[in-house]
Amino acid sequence: DWTMAGYRDEAIRKIREQVGDRKVICGLSGGVDSSVAAVLIHEAIGDQLTCVFVDHGLLRLNEAEEVVTMFRDNYNIPLIHADESDLFLGALEGVSDPEVKRKTIGRLFIDVFQRYASGIDGAEFLAQGTLYPDVIESVSFSGGPSVTIKSHHNVGGLPEKMGLKLVEPLRELFKDEVRALGRELGLPDKFIGRHPFPGPGLAIRCPGEITREKLDILRKADAVFIDQIRRHGLYDDIWQAFVAILPVRTVGVMGDGRTYDYACALRAVTSVDGMTADYYPFTHDFLGETATRIINEVKGINRCTYDITSKPPGTIEWE
Ligand code: XMP
Repeated sequence: DWTMAGYRDEAIRKIREQVGDRKVICGLSGGVDSSVAAVLIHEAIGDQLTCVFVDHGLLRLNEAEEVVTMFRDNYNIPLIHADESDLFLGALEGVSDPEVKRKTIGRLFIDVFQRYASGIDGAEFLAQGTLYPDVIESVSFSGGPSVTIKSHHNVGGLPEKMGLKLVEPLRELFKDEVRALGRELGLPDKFIGRHPFPGPGLAIRCPGEITREKLDILRKADAVFIDQIRRHGLYDDIWQAFVAILPVRTVGVMGDGRTYDYACALRAVTSVDGMTADYYPFTHDFLGETATRIINEVKGINRCTYDITSKPPGTIEWE
C-alpha cells in the first residue's frame, strides 16, 4: 500500500544512501518545492545540509524575513541569507525584454549562488526542489518542433561547473504530492498551501523596465489582493493569484484632483499543474471591492483591471 509516510521514509533512505557523511548545499527560494526538499534533506542528514537563500530583491512583501525566520529559527537549518538586491536590480536597470530579464536574473543567480556555495567547505552535493513538471517543461506544438516558451530560472549548468552532484528528491512528484509530503514533514498548512511563485519573482510581474518604485507599488498592491482573497476564503480554490504592474500610467480623478498613476492587472487562475489554466470567476462585487481597496490603499496606482485570459493562449505570468 502506497502512503506519503512510506514515500518520505524511502526518500530519506535514498538521500542517506546517496550522500553518506558528505555535505549538501540547497538553494532555498522560499517556495514550497525547495522548502520541502530542504526539510526532507535536513531530516535525512541534519547539519550536513546548508541552505543558501539568494534574495534577488524581487520577492513579495516581507517574504525574505519570513523565510529566514522559518528556516533558521523554527527549523534550525543552517541558512545563509544572501541579500543581493542591489546587484540584481542594478543589472536589470534599463532592461525591458522579457527573455533578457530572465537570462540576466538566471545568470546572476548562478554567479551569486556559486560565490556563497564555494564558501561552504567540502560540499559535494547540490540539492534542488525539481518537480516532475520542471523535468518536462518544454512544450511541443502538434506537428511542430519542440519550443521553449520561457527560459526557466534554475541553477541549470551549475552542478557541473562547481563539480557538484545533484540531489533531487522531488523529481518524481507533482505539486499536490509535494504538498502532501510537506504536510507529512510537519510544515505548517498555511505555508504548504502557498501559491507557486516563479524563480524570477516580481520581475516577470512588472512588464517592461523594472524600477524600485514600481516594485514597491507592486508589493503593496499584491499584498492587498492576497488579503482580499484570504478574507473571502478563496485562497485554496485558486492555483495562483498576483498583481502585475503595467508599464503605463493613466489619468484618474481622486477627491477633486487629477491623478496620473500606474495601472495594474489582477491575475488569478485555477489549474491542476500550471500547464493549462482558467481565469478565476470572481464575483463582480469582489472585483469592485478589491479595486477600490487597491486604489485607496496603494499610492501610485489609480486603475485596476482583471485579466480574463486562459492558458493557452495566455501564460499565467505576464512575461
Ligand atoms: P507560465 O507563465 O509559463 O507559468 O504559464 C507556469 C507556471 O510556472 C511558473 N513559472 C516559473 N517558475 N521559474 C519558476 O520556478 C520560472 O522562471 C518560471 N516562470 C513561470 C509560473 O509562476 C506558473 O506557476
